[in-house]
Amino acid sequence: QPDFDFSGVLIAWQKRHGRHALPWQQTRDAYRIWLSEIMLQQTQVTTVIPYYARFLAYFPDVAALASAPAEAVMAQWSGLGYYSRARNLHRCAQIVVEKYGGHFPVDPALLEALPGIGRSTAAAISVFSSGTRAAILDGNVIRVLSRVFGIEEYAGAAKVKNRLWQLAESLLPEQNLESYTQGLMDLGATICVRGTPSCDLCPFSSCCYAFLQDKVRELPVRKPS
Ligand code: ADE
Repeated sequence: QPDFDFSGVLIAWQKRHGRHALPWQQTRDAYRIWLSEIMLQQTQVTTVIPYYARFLAYFPDVAALASAPAEAVMAQWSGLGYYSRARNLHRCAQIVVEKYGGHFPVDPALLEALPGIGRSTAAAISVFSSGTRAAILDGNVIRVLSRVFGIEEYAGAAKVKNRLWQLAESLLPEQNLESYTQGLMDLGATICVRGTPSCDLCPFSSCCYAFLQDKVRELPVRKPS
């Protein structure tokens, strides 16, 4: 357990400096949140925004997406890349309609069983659509946690990944899961970036292991070659 209030500091920072106007932040509709999280898996926010709007105009709900021809789904995805995401998206929509009557499950474990949804994406969907207490751990979060808490081993290793998941779970606040989760994403995307992070603007600089040890450039540890 850290000797500072990680979640409290992050939630306060998110309220003041985080992103609040992203299109998928204006809804608790699990379909819209799921779509945004799949698009954001390998694509930047600025690229996703116009695709997201067009996709929703074409397929306004999960039933519309499930019943669309595969070619129509691919046509709307075209340009976003990583096309297995679009195939999984279509299959996932069909399963949600057939198995769950068109309602996405709330439980992250059930979400994770659906095509294209891994542990972190399942948690993000569950947090943003229903405020569930679940931890995310994507590349941005691995970078933030590795720096702040001084994880000096390669996160691709299963035992290190397990340790990071444990840490991520242990840091979860009791309340404000949405602000907390968005704060982790926003800090990783805008302040604690790869390359040259903006430590002068970071709310954790006074307690960040990497900053205090002058190891910001070395963390997270890169894949050993
Ligand atoms: N990257 C992944 N999920 C995101 C979200 N909900 N908002 C901003 N960036 C993200």
